[in-house]
Amino acid sequence: MSLTVREALQRASFQLRQAQLEQPRREAEALLCAALQQSRAWLYAHGEAVLPAAAAALFDSWVQRRLQGEPYAYICGEREFMGLSFTVTPSVLIPRPETELLVEAVLAELRQEQAPCLLDLGTGSGAIAVSLAVFLPQAQVTAVDLSAAALAVARENARRHQVASRLRFLQGDLYAPVAGEEFTAVISNPPYIPAAEISRLAATVKDYEPLLALDGGPDGLAFYRRLTRELTLLAAPPSLLALEVGAGQAAAVRQLCLQAGCQAVRQLPDLAGIPRVILATWG
Ligand SMILES: C[S@@+](CC[C@H](N)C(=O)[O-])C[C@H]1O[C@@H](n2cnc3c(N)ncnc32)[C@H](O)[C@@H]1O
Repeated sequence: MSLTVREALQRASFQLRQAQLEQPRREAEALLCAALQQSRAWLYAHGEAVLPAAAAALFDSWVQRRLQGEPYAYICGEREFMGLSFTVTPSVLIPRPETELLVEAVLAELRQEQAPCLLDLGTGSGAIAVSLAVFLPQAQVTAVDLSAAALAVARENARRHQVASRLRFLQGDLYAPVAGEEFTAVISNPPYIPAAEISRLAATVKDYEPLLALDGGPDGLAFYRRLTRELTLLAAPPSLLALEVGAGQAAAVRQLCLQAGCQAVRQLPDLAGIPRVILATWG
């Protein structure tokens, strides 16, 4: 049965509303834009256009996946972060708006640096590393992840944003691939969900996003302990250690930074007032 743009949108919006998705019409429009490779404005102007069979089939399969709970970003393979479009696959965490605060804080700290050397630990899609390379054209960035599949996505994003020549990708366990090196700043959004809480996360997260990107150990702080203690693997402490933290973790992470010998530590809140970013400084 052939459907017009208007009919296809109405049908999909109804199905998505029945499944209690928050913004059924917006989601239906976004999926149809991606299936047709057209803008929203095009959809509004061409409500009576009949959908080509291939686009109609693709749209229908994407709506069915969304109805099962699969995140929109994995279906369309894209997520916007810092105003840039990032490729995402199920091998990487979908970059979150909170993480933009971390990137903005690092940009504010490093704008005056002549040639900063940055280390992003647990790079995933490369959202942090690639954004920093884009907005700090004088920076060299090293991105580490345990997952080879995640690094492939991060490499692709570096190519998309034409910063691959200033990015180095290394597979390994936190500081291990860069032991003995020196960096101006170490940045990380590590896995920080307490292991026992993972089964209680929304299905769209726990059933689709990689466990390796979520599991922060028994109390959610395992990576912060390692990120602060294992700084000794570097030739010298960085001027800046910038970390995203989960709700309720800031006080413990501040303490870990102080134990690691930093001179000062600050925290920055998100829009809800929850401390989300820890900035520890040396020297
Ligand atoms: C919370 S995700 C963050 C991804 C990305 N930086 C972002 O902010 O969207 C954490 C990342 O750490 C990686 N990871 C987990 N354990 C690791 C380890 N021991 N060493 C290096 N990377 C690790 C995961 O594969 C995942 O990509």
